[in-house]
Amino acid sequence: MATTPKKPAKKTGKYEFILTARRKGALEITFNNPDKLNALNEQMAGEIMDAMASVEDDRRILCVILQGNERAFCAGADLSGFSDKPHERYDNYRARYNLRLNRQMFPSLQSYTKPVISAVEGYALGGGFEIAMFGDFIVAGEAAQFGLPEGRHSLIPGAGGTQNLPRIVGAALAKELIWTARRLSAEEALALRIVNHVTPKGKALAKARDIVEQMKKTGPLSIMMTKQAIDRGLDMTLAQGFQQESDLSYLLTWSDDRKEGLAAFAKRRPAKFKGQ
Ligand code: COA
Repeated sequence: MATTPKKPAKKTGKYEFILTARRKGALEITFNNPDKLNALNEQMAGEIMDAMASVEDDRRILCVILQGNERAFCAGADLSGFSDKPHERYDNYRARYNLRLNRQMFPSLQSYTKPVISAVEGYALGGGFEIAMFGDFIVAGEAAQFGLPEGRHSLIPGAGGTQNLPRIVGAALAKELIWTARRLSAEEALALRIVNHVTPKGKALAKARDIVEQMKKTGPLSIMMTKQAIDRGLDMTLAQGFQQESDLSYLLTWSDDRKEGLAAFAKRRPAKFKGQ
């Protein structure tokens, strides 16, 4: 089982709705809107994107960990922020495509070139669950709950939920979960492969940090390319997937890290990767 790190993460105070800390090769983003169970508003979405963009080309950062607090990872879109005045409807339509930060954030998670791990405790509902599904994988504390309750507000999961959830659990179960708003426990989510690990309550972050430590021995360029190969491949035919895998594999033959990896293996020493 993962151990809780002794030193607390270093906090920076640049943002209002998130806390960020760089710790041992990860950028840890903590959602910080506790009075609303970390509900997502437009500013918070912009802050998440800004924090992630600020480390995307920083080779000292291998990955991003997203977390909330013990009560809630994120309870979805901030329902108090919804407004649609009749005279603004076509402006709103246009804004949804390119301008709204809370719409941009989800695809930006999908196309991020570094791993995004969600450490979930408490509620991961609506957009909160959708954020975690757009990341690469989820580690959950045993009291975590996952659900897409948008239908209860006569909305639909509009941030990838109707596409990502069926790709994980299949169409039939996704429909039932969306139509009933039933919440899944962490154990059920594990059985359905929505989450990779369930930890004791409060230990999801420690487990995510543990995984980051294990990932450090893998070349960062290999991680970048395999993320591309898997994510793109899932949307392709198998033959196209093999082809793009071959191309991505060939790109790595030019890297210094590949030479270093082979030299380290020959000399039976740990590799020192530079990410180039
Ligand atoms: N947007 C805005 N505020 C929210 C919120 C959301 N998505 N989810 C919770 N909150 C607020 C509540 O209004 C409440 O505020 P208050 O203390 O000022 O009344 C506070 O967070 C605590 O929530 P509360 O409902 O009292 O806690 P609970 O433990 O009884 O229930 C939930 C927790 C998550 C089950 C419940 O808050 C809920 O159903 N939230 C909405 C989830 C949702 O539908 N998400 C999808 C949005 S499209």
